[in-house]
Amino acid sequence: MIKIQSLTKRYGELIAADDISFEVNPGEIFGLLGPNGAGKSTTINCLSGLLKPTSGDISINGHAVIGDGVAAKKHLGLVPQDLALYEDLSGRENLNFWGQAYGLSGPALNKRIDQVLAQVGLTDRQKDRVETYSGGMKRRLNFACAILHQPKALLLDEPTVGVDPQSRVHLLNSVRTLKEQGAAVIYTSHYMEEVEQLCDRIAIIDKGAIIAQGSIATLRKQMGEKDLIELKGNFSSIDVEVLKEYDVQEWKDNQVQFWCEHAASKLSEILQLFKDCDIKETSVKQANLESLFIKLTGRALRD
Ligand SMILES: Nc1ncnc2c1ncn2[C@@H]1O[C@H](COP(=O)(O)OP(=O)(O)O)[C@@H](O)[C@H]1O
Ligand SMILES: [Mg+2]
Repeated sequence: MIKIQSLTKRYGELIAADDISFEVNPGEIFGLLGPNGAGKSTTINCLSGLLKPTSGDISINGHAVIGDGVAAKKHLGLVPQDLALYEDLSGRENLNFWGQAYGLSGPALNKRIDQVLAQVGLTDRQKDRVETYSGGMKRRLNFACAILHQPKALLLDEPTVGVDPQSRVHLLNSVRTLKEQGAAVIYTSHYMEEVEQLCDRIAIIDKGAIIAQGSIATLRKQMGEKDLIELKGNFSSIDVEVLKEYDVQEWKDNQVQFWCEHAASKLSEILQLFKDCDIKETSVKQANLESLFIKLTGRALRD
């Protein structure tokens, strides 16, 4: 449904998108995960036709975004990173405006507005001006505007930044519903947990380039499937050497973290090493995308 081949976007010397390629199928959520400045919005904006790529081919439902843009955009919904709402209009008036921009009108548009308002939980606030909405409500309305015309391909650019937990749950559930209805979804975020929960496949992007791509399971394998063990206690009297067989991530007086394969079966043996350390808490975390990012780039995802 969404196909992007060797997309490159340059701003002078800076390469904001560097040879990006991936495809997203109907009924699939594809995550673009990367830190600020990685090139996520650049990729999304090239996909939606807002930005002209330096080179590369992009198509939506078989229609080239450049060349056959009207047909490509007919099937596309965009939830931009920056809110695209009229603050002095009501929620319903905003939806009316966007619906007409997509070519909807009359009773069909009214019915569709009722549906999306219910879906994002804004039915009882629909007549209030947007300027009176919370940040989370604006995000939900921004999302509602993008799905009015029931797009087959949906692009979401960091839709949950700065929203309250309730709105976040609402938004994530709405994205899942669209997937179930068969949409191809691209979801960008720098929240590793969100992407891990929501997405079927993921590309990790850094400095414009994809540095890892695949299903969560595939990416876990790339991590070597090591779990992260975290112990809390008093480690001031022993030496980091005690962990010489493990990959140490952090060593502090009150907390240590290290990587370990098959952690569950080794835990009692490990705790024996720390028997004099007054261990207060033990936790085992499965390898996650944050740790993969650290491994691939040497930096944290959120800095
Ligand atoms: N109009 C522009 N002119 C010059 N550089 C830009 C422009 N837009 C974005 N960039 C740069 O391109 C890189 C990627 O930005 P962006 O795609 O917005 O990242 P992300 O969305 O992942 O945070 C950044 O280094 C950013 O500063
Ligand atoms: Mg961005």
